[in-house]
Amino acid sequence: MSLFEIGNKILTVFTMTSILIFHLKAESKKIDPETNLVMDKGFYAVVENCLTCHPSNLITEKHRSKEDWLKVIKWMQTDFGLWELDKDTKKSILDYLGKNYSKVKKKEGLVPNLNLNNIK
Ligand code: HEC
Repeated sequence: MSLFEIGNKILTVFTMTSILIFHLKAESKKIDPETNLVMDKGFYAVVENCLTCHPSNLITEKHRSKEDWLKVIKWMQTDFGLWELDKDTKKSILDYLGKNYSKVKKKEGLVPNLNLNNIK
């Protein structure tokens, strides 16, 4: 095998791998058409526990840090009747929201005078 052929083979493998990685990445950001949420690890925990009362746009239209998402969960529990979540479920939801809907820029809450910092 000539050096040129070896080079060509390496290039082919490299190209195929790049295409594969590109597709896997595109795949991981798939949006579920029904809920409009990113399909990722923790998706079902969010669907089951968060979309019972309201549509996902309340969740998707604002980006928060993971700490603020935890405050939102607590707030849903203290004020809106979200049930207790077991440790694993809460972690799945937080990881999911932190990964896919984490803070980009700060915006006002939908509820006037809501200050997430006051929620313990
Ligand atoms: C038992 C009902 C219920 C459940 C379950 C629930 N919520 Fe809510 N949620 C509400 C209500 C009621 C509102 C207030 C809607 C409004 O602002 O008019 C709300 C509002 C919100 C908002 C908008 C707050 C703002 O001002 O930005 C977010 C974000 C949110 N919920 C996230 C969640 C998440 C995440 C979960 C799952 C862990 C969840 N909710 C589960 C009832 C619920």
